[in-house]
Amino acid sequence: MPEFRVETPQRCYPAIVERGIVARAAEYVPPKSGKVFVVSTEDVWRHQGAALASALAGVGHEALFLPGGEERKRLAPLEQLAEEMVERGADRTSMVIAYGGGIVNDMGGFLAAIFMRGIPVLQIPTTLLAQVDAAIGGKTGVNLVGGKNLIGSFHQPLAVLIDPALLDTLPDREYRSGLYEIVKAGIIRDRGLFRFLADCSREVLAREPKAVDRIVADSVRMKAEVVSADEREGDLRRILNFGHTFGHALEAETRYTRFLHGEAVAWGMRAAVHLGRLTGHISAEDSAGIFLMLETYGPIPPLDGIRVENIFARLAHDKKTVRGKVHFVLPVRIGKVTVVSGIEEKLVRESIGQALS
Ligand code: GLY
Repeated sequence: MPEFRVETPQRCYPAIVERGIVARAAEYVPPKSGKVFVVSTEDVWRHQGAALASALAGVGHEALFLPGGEERKRLAPLEQLAEEMVERGADRTSMVIAYGGGIVNDMGGFLAAIFMRGIPVLQIPTTLLAQVDAAIGGKTGVNLVGGKNLIGSFHQPLAVLIDPALLDTLPDREYRSGLYEIVKAGIIRDRGLFRFLADCSREVLAREPKAVDRIVADSVRMKAEVVSADEREGDLRRILNFGHTFGHALEAETRYTRFLHGEAVAWGMRAAVHLGRLTGHISAEDSAGIFLMLETYGPIPPLDGIRVENIFARLAHDKKTVRGKVHFVLPVRIGKVTVVSGIEEKLVRESIGQALS
């Protein structure tokens, strides 16, 4: 099964896509490691915990639980978990295994980044979205009311173990939320993947193992390449934010309760394509191809009641906004995007309006 190297100044590590790899998790715990803290949610642990617990038999470990839900991806639960770790004898030799979806990967990674100024983390993502995006590349953090992931740090993991078999029982909505991130991967850098998603949607939606393994591996390869080229998002990594500027604004505007992350990104991609059309970056034909793809993997929950002005105002709080200038990732053609700033406000408002209508 494929293994991709992520090579960053902070750390070089493998992202391995392999059915059943959870059973080999203990191989990725360094021999001199102290106590292992598995950070998960009660829900994930109930459904998938037995596989990891039996893999870690013989390795001293304890499970700690986060509340789950994007609206609870905040600093307070992490402080509580850190206190629990101290009570249970954690020290500088301890490590974290983040076992769950994107929220657990972000929060577990951030806990490892700040506990005693940094202990190692092993990422084992259990949702599609986390397998193809959140768990790879070392971004960790939590939300503020004012915006998504506004507190955080880069903390690269020891390894990312990606087991597509874990996806068999994922709820349909969660699965499709992850598919939108894979659609994103195709649009920004992999025309072949986009084609496959268009041609084989039946197999993908039916979760046929061959199709799932292919789209997961392609997305992980893309992410590993991009992060290896630009760990800190100074340049190339910005393309991964396609659909995220509007998507993050939408999540914050709805207090993180209405949309899963991938769903907000799907709406964000629609807005970015409208903006790409209005600014003359992308052809009508490629835009139609992207809209059709989003419908194929939809429906995305509706946007009723959201006001253009509120979303527009929130764009200014995005991390990608520098000195008041919003940077947009716009599609040029399928497989290529570009980063543009200084777009006329009128066009930005119009694209939001088109996405909302
Ligand atoms: N999820 C975007 C990134 O990792 O840069």
